[in-house]
Amino acid sequence: MQEMANTLDYIIDTMLVFHPLEPYLSLLKLDGKLILMGIISTTLQFLTPAVLLGRKTITGSYVGSVKEIEEMLEFCKEKDLSSTIEVVKMDYLNKAIERVEKNDVKYRFVVNVSRSKLDQQIHL
Ligand SMILES: *[C@@H]1O[C@H](CO)[C@@H](O)[C@H](O)[C@H]1NC(C)=O
Repeated sequence: MQEMANTLDYIIDTMLVFHPLEPYLSLLKLDGKLILMGIISTTLQFLTPAVLLGRKTITGSYVGSVKEIEEMLEFCKEKDLSSTIEVVKMDYLNKAIERVEKNDVKYRFVVNVSRSKLDQQIHL
């Protein structure tokens, strides 16, 4: 983290649990943006110098439109960006939700609906 200080233009923060913001703000360059995208049920806090020094911005966004999602996927393709995910089947969904509730998730769950009832409905 120290080596990366003041190096990033922006951070897209998708964390869904409480986390201190200062360590992430310190990674941003002058005029850098921290973009919050996760809905968290607790208050996030930061000390104002973490924003004032470096004219940083904390902003947020919720769900994008289909067009915005397509642009984001195109951007990831161009920049060769990917994320680490855990693919689970529909029959694992209850267990996956249990694990989310227990905070026992390292990556984002992606549900593979192929060959499930949902998949059959999508293709009808
Ligand atoms: C999803 O499930 C199908 C059928 O089991 C499988 O062929 C496919 O590789 C899976 N996709 C992913 C991304 O795991």
